[in-house]
Amino acid sequence: MGVSGRSHAELEAIFEEVEAPFAFVDLDAMWSNSGAMLGRAGGKPIRVASKSVRCRALLERILARDERYRGLMTFTLPETLWLAEAGFENLLLAYPTADTAALGELALRSVANPEGAPIVMVDCTAHLEAIESVLGAGAAPVRVCIDLDAGWWAAGGRLKIGPKRSPVHTVEDAVSLAQEIERRPQLKLAALMAYEGQIAGVGDRPPGRRLRGRAIAAMQRRSATELAARRAAVVAAIREFAELEIVNGGGTGSLELTGAEEAVTEVTAGSGFYAPTLFDAYSRFSLTPAAGFALSVVRKPSPGVATALGGGYLASGSGDAARLPSPWLPEGLELDPEEGAGEVQTPLSGKPAPELRIGDRVYMRHAKAGELCERFDALHLVEGDEIVDVVPTYRGEGRTFL
Ligand SMILES: Cc1ncc(COP(=O)(O)O)c(C=O)c1O
Repeated sequence: MGVSGRSHAELEAIFEEVEAPFAFVDLDAMWSNSGAMLGRAGGKPIRVASKSVRCRALLERILARDERYRGLMTFTLPETLWLAEAGFENLLLAYPTADTAALGELALRSVANPEGAPIVMVDCTAHLEAIESVLGAGAAPVRVCIDLDAGWWAAGGRLKIGPKRSPVHTVEDAVSLAQEIERRPQLKLAALMAYEGQIAGVGDRPPGRRLRGRAIAAMQRRSATELAARRAAVVAAIREFAELEIVNGGGTGSLELTGAEEAVTEVTAGSGFYAPTLFDAYSRFSLTPAAGFALSVVRKPSPGVATALGGGYLASGSGDAARLPSPWLPEGLELDPEEGAGEVQTPLSGKPAPELRIGDRVYMRHAKAGELCERFDALHLVEGDEIVDVVPTYRGEGRTFL
């Protein structure tokens, strides 16, 4: 049995007719993860991070699953416009854009539907100017969201922990940008977002590194306390002079912490649906692996090694070994320390390797969530012991946004 409770033999029976390589999502596991995340969010609505799903059919199913799923957090403006065109509503673009053609399209959408058009992210006056530059004189206001840096500053600001994103960190920074937005009639301040990547995206149980895990947990506790106070102060200060419909924060790894903050109106989650390997390393929750891919064994370079075709689907980020895909089933397979997961082949050793024959399949997990969908044009959806649907990924629809 694997971590999901499914065995290699079960997966092989389910996918008997499917030629490897292929990718799949186990819906039973995904809905179990969904339930766990809704519970952890403590009643706050969850905005679904599209970058971590990258499959329209699954985004639709997730949004229809529970009314506490509200809207999408999107990752590029062309993607956002494409989703809006397809009928998705309540879209918050989480990263700033310099795409003037797409901003022009957004401006048209904002005229047609001032309160329903997507909200875009800003963290400096250059972002405000870029939006204004595409707006005609009588255009309807474009709704914007301030990205507040959620990083934790220690040692008097000499040590800054957290993703290097927004320069807006203090209450004064946020108020000053909010006032700048208020002075511009063609922009409307609609939201504030603060994403605490150092808590939500970093596991405090890194395998084999107990001391590092303890240090991470201590950092996360202190950072969460500091951020809760700062986020509340920023929200209160801005609400003195502007309406803020949305205060967004958090991610799969921080739902219970961010959801508990009074100032936060909604949390975000995406990765937790697929539960890739980087989300195995948290003490606060455990998820069930729900997405995987299968490779075909095509060679036996020696009796103890089975070499699969392809498999080099590394995850983005710092480039450490945790970004490699992980052998999943049959249990006990290991990557080769020299070759890792390769462009054309992935040698596998370990206990089950001698039993693997040419034509057998092995099952792997990606380190991150949505990036899996950049490697496959379809996802086989499994429920019980059956493939219930095959749906296109973004890539399968001919869309690769990043
Ligand atoms: C702005 C923002 N919010 C939330 C998330 C959390 O997404 P997930 O739940 O997929 O980790 C991310 C992930 O990078 C993000 O960039």
